[in-house]
Amino acid sequence: MSGLPLASVPDPVLELRNVSFMRSGKVLLDHGNLMLTQQGRTIIIGPNGAGKSLLMRLAHGLLEPSSGTIVCRHNGSGTPRQAMVFQRPVLLRRSSLANVTHALALRGVPRRIRRNQAEQALARFGLTHLAQRPARILSGGEQQRLALARAWALEPDILFLDEPSSALDPAATKAVEDAVNVFFRKGTKIVMTTHDLGQARRLADEVVFMCCGRILERTPAATFFDTPTTVAAAAFLRGELVLAPWESPTPLTTNG
Ligand SMILES: Nc1ncnc2c1ncn2[C@@H]1O[C@H](COP(=O)(O)OP(=O)(O)O)[C@@H](O)[C@H]1O
Ligand SMILES: [Mg+2]
Repeated sequence: MSGLPLASVPDPVLELRNVSFMRSGKVLLDHGNLMLTQQGRTIIIGPNGAGKSLLMRLAHGLLEPSSGTIVCRHNGSGTPRQAMVFQRPVLLRRSSLANVTHALALRGVPRRIRRNQAEQALARFGLTHLAQRPARILSGGEQQRLALARAWALEPDILFLDEPSSALDPAATKAVEDAVNVFFRKGTKIVMTTHDLGQARRLADEVVFMCCGRILERTPAATFFDTPTTVAAAAFLRGELVLAPWESPTPLTTNG
């Protein structure tokens, strides 16, 4: 049953077909199948070591799958523009503004319009007053907003966010959540991991639940939190499922 209503929606923007990832003889992602559509905020949750970050890196093209295929499409054809925001932003030893113009340069944006686009992106996330400040001396929350502004300047069709607020205080976390919704309202596909279940409830339109290198379910958020489809997800929501990566996935049964 799980995922059927969403799976029947046409026009997938990102599809994982039987994707596995192995290292040192260990299966870290086990035949993952997932179809994401342009609509909605997809929140990936699951215990530590489940493979959430791995899945995002594979989907974003930072890692090559050991087997299987990842298909990206935009409006039925073409390659979607993608951006990714990490738990700890990767910033250059340059000003905030230069961090954004540099990203635009890499994307091939002509020099004469880079600065203007970068300034608009900084303004969108309340960073205009920090434009000339070295990015490395910004606070954690400001750095994350800069990473979001840099992503915004790239006008991604899909934005991946891997635990973007887990190193931040509540106010900065709120700013990140607001920023996610700014992208969402613009039509950007949101794919985000979090270990904060409150945040998952606030943001998710659909939940992908992972455990032990497996994608166990993809369920509309409205039903996931009340009636998760798998035993493992139910245990996770009760706070009972905290598996270390080396623990066996076999006791987990699914009906999917
Ligand atoms: N590039 C890699 N090489 C080897 N092992 C990895 C690599 N990336 C992740 N892992 C391992 O894969 C498992 C899943 O990691 P990760 O995706 O970071 O989990 P999560 O984000 O769900 O906490 C962990 O056991 C981790 O140590
Ligand atoms: Mg992770």
